[in-house]
Amino acid sequence: MKAKLNRRDWLRSSLLATGGLGLGMASVYGATPNAKPFWLNKPRVMVKPFAYDKYNLKAKLNANENKFGPSKLALEAITESASIGNLYAHYDVIKLREMLAEKEGVKPEQIILGPGSTDLLEKTAVITFRDGKGNIVSADPTYMSVVRSAKRVGATWKNIPCKTDWSHDLEGMMDAIDDETRLIYICNPNNPTGAITDGKALWDFCAKASEKAPVFVDEAYLDFMEEKDQKSMVGLIAEGKDIILARTFSKIHGMAGLRVGYLVAKEERVESINNILRSSYNLSITSLRAAMASIKDEEYLKMSRAKNLEAKGFVYEAFKEMGVEYIPSSTSFIFFKLPVEGEAYMKSMYGQGVGVRLFDIDDEPWGRVSMGTMEEMELFVPALKKTFEA
Ligand SMILES: Cc1ncc(COP(=O)(O)O)c(C=O)c1O
Repeated sequence: MKAKLNRRDWLRSSLLATGGLGLGMASVYGATPNAKPFWLNKPRVMVKPFAYDKYNLKAKLNANENKFGPSKLALEAITESASIGNLYAHYDVIKLREMLAEKEGVKPEQIILGPGSTDLLEKTAVITFRDGKGNIVSADPTYMSVVRSAKRVGATWKNIPCKTDWSHDLEGMMDAIDDETRLIYICNPNNPTGAITDGKALWDFCAKASEKAPVFVDEAYLDFMEEKDQKSMVGLIAEGKDIILARTFSKIHGMAGLRVGYLVAKEERVESINNILRSSYNLSITSLRAAMASIKDEEYLKMSRAKNLEAKGFVYEAFKEMGVEYIPSSTSFIFFKLPVEGEAYMKSMYGQGVGVRLFDIDDEPWGRVSMGTMEEMELFVPALKKTFEA
């Protein structure tokens, strides 16, 4: 499989690799396709199915898991609480909500816990669109959990193409909101692109758009950014805006298999969800205790962020050397353009024991690689080289 990089491709990848976001990308991709109001009939992004199960992996880099978690304190809390698994965890639910309320600067009554944020994303969509009417506005590509559930119960999806720098087209999204809009979904930083939308611009958008419909902001990966660059939208909730914010313990806390996530919203919104479903009580006592311990483990969180940056730096270097076009990432994964055919890429990578993900964007193959340990990244890079050179 030849990595066919012609001069234009090379130029494009060099611009991306060296210039990062911004002008470089704009000049190679052309103008944002937003004749207003604009949304697409066909999704830009397709997750390509692949039979993952039959391969033994040496490096599992396909699900944005954090290989450094759970933290030591979380593990101790799990061990200690296993023997009280005969008891309901009501008091721990209250305690974790209090801790999160303090962290987020809201009241405990403004928090719903869930067994992973997926549970809360999908429930919010089903509750919002349960009569099968209305539309949801989101970027495309984006993380599809909320959109998919909304569509399955009958919502129309207004998908607004990301801009040339892969940030949300906030103007385009604002124009797409109409009387039928019941939810606006934002994923920042975004999955699968890893791209960030400017915090100040997003803040203004959320403040304005939430006057028309609730804005659901998914901040699953925000913790991977340097603390000074993290701009959460949670402050808008304290101001009384109709924002529903989702966070998860699956990413920086490295607790994907322990299933802990939460929503923050204004009290009326929380009540309207709790009236129908009581997700907060669906968590195990071990997971609740692990989450409480992990929040306190600042050393672990710092280490986890640093390891992620180290792995990204290593992969960026390899991509630059290989002339691979990638999107600079604010998350724990990197999205890159494949210069080879998608299925053959997957077979080659999995055949070498390296699990990765494949997407089609505008009918072109893209790869997504999660950051793992350095040992795993050191398996990924040569496997990729071999795949592109075959
Ligand atoms: C953007 C985003 N939101 C939410 C989730 C769901 O995570 P979990 O259900 O493990 O909390 C993921 C998982 O990959 C994600 O990428």
